[in-house]
Amino acid sequence: LAILAVSCSGQSVQVDGNKVVDTLTRLANFSDHENPAVTRILFSPNDMLARTFVKDLMRDANLIVREDKMGNIFGRWEGSNPSAGVVLTGSHCDAIPLAGMYDGTLGVIGGIEAIAALQRAGYKPAASIEVLMFTSEEPTRFGLSCSGSRALAGALEAEVLESKLDSEGRHFVQVANEVGYGASSTQEMLDATKLAPGQVAHFVELHIEQGPFLEAEGKDIGVVTAIAAPAALEVVFVGDGGHAGGQLMPARNDAGLAGAELALAVERHVLATGSVDTVGTTGTFEISPGAINSVPREARLAIDIRDIDGPRRDSVVAAVLESAREIAERRKVRMSSRVINQDPPASSHDDIVSAAASSAQQLGLSVKHMVSRAYHDSLFMARVAPMGMIFIPCKNGWSHRPDEFAKPEDIANGVSVLALTMARLSGG
Ligand code: GLV
Ligand code: MN
Ligand code: MN
Ligand code: MN
Repeated sequence: LAILAVSCSGQSVQVDGNKVVDTLTRLANFSDHENPAVTRILFSPNDMLARTFVKDLMRDANLIVREDKMGNIFGRWEGSNPSAGVVLTGSHCDAIPLAGMYDGTLGVIGGIEAIAALQRAGYKPAASIEVLMFTSEEPTRFGLSCSGSRALAGALEAEVLESKLDSEGRHFVQVANEVGYGASSTQEMLDATKLAPGQVAHFVELHIEQGPFLEAEGKDIGVVTAIAAPAALEVVFVGDGGHAGGQLMPARNDAGLAGAELALAVERHVLATGSVDTVGTTGTFEISPGAINSVPREARLAIDIRDIDGPRRDSVVAAVLESAREIAERRKVRMSSRVINQDPPASSHDDIVSAAASSAQQLGLSVKHMVSRAYHDSLFMARVAPMGMIFIPCKNGWSHRPDEFAKPEDIANGVSVLALTMARLSGG
């Protein structure tokens, strides 16, 4: 049942879920960790191999491939009305350390397959249809999420991108230049990447849910109505360190303990909203020097706070920063903090919500309208085009872990819904 067939303009759209899984499995090989774990960091050798793989797939689907200076990769299927705004789909192929093989990749490989299915069906698009692999949705290398889509949407300032360095102290544009993208300056790179007004008429992204609800409720397809507002903070505490034997307790200002208190304060402030929609995570917590016989001199925490309600998320961010100041004062450590990003939520556009829901119904699939609690490049694409997302169930809601899994039949469903949605939006 992994093959789904449906009639579109009198032709039959067929998607083989097992074939998509096979392609995803081949893509998963480009990984810094052994499969099933997938680690694919922006502009690393494996990311570059994955990019070549994706471009070859686009060419095999007779798409015209182009890349911008940020490394966003587009595959274009020219419509009969080439001056109309494009119907764009896409997602990302970078993967956080020890992730799985479906997050993001489904929306790229599935996007190419959706176009191929429409081509096989003899469908002729009016507005051109494009599939896009975004550069660096994940924040792993430079600490900034969605760098490609922020830039495409004109929502990334040069000084913000220049303030982000990788672990070797290098700038995005430097590394981009080394792998064949980039420009002579960050500003020039960003200016060249920004989409022209009206260039994209519709954006729709296919993704695994990364949560448990579709599977638990037995629904085939999620149609996303809004994307929760993500924020990321970094807090650093610095004390005086010292010898774990010689430094008596009253004389210490242990930065590690300040960090531990803050991690607990994040949880407390999040729970205090009383809403399950507020979530907070201290995802990295590094202490140094990191020796059993040394009082921690420095603690560095990266804190992720999200909510579907932007102002409520902002109030939690403010409370966490206030706690950081209070803890630093009481524990006599120095504190610095910075907000890495604090993005508003985004709403899907009714036209895309109804095109996706009608396409699912046409296929006899059950639909749940739902919020995306993960962020996606769609969050930024919503600033320049009507946006929508199609979710499929994933096992136990697991994501960002090696055992992430989606069934071939659910993949066939998602790709088919995407194909029909794009056909509706293109108007061929
Ligand atoms: C993206 O991967 C997210 O953290 O939502
Ligand atoms: Mn992810
Ligand atoms: Mn993703
Ligand atoms: Mn994501």
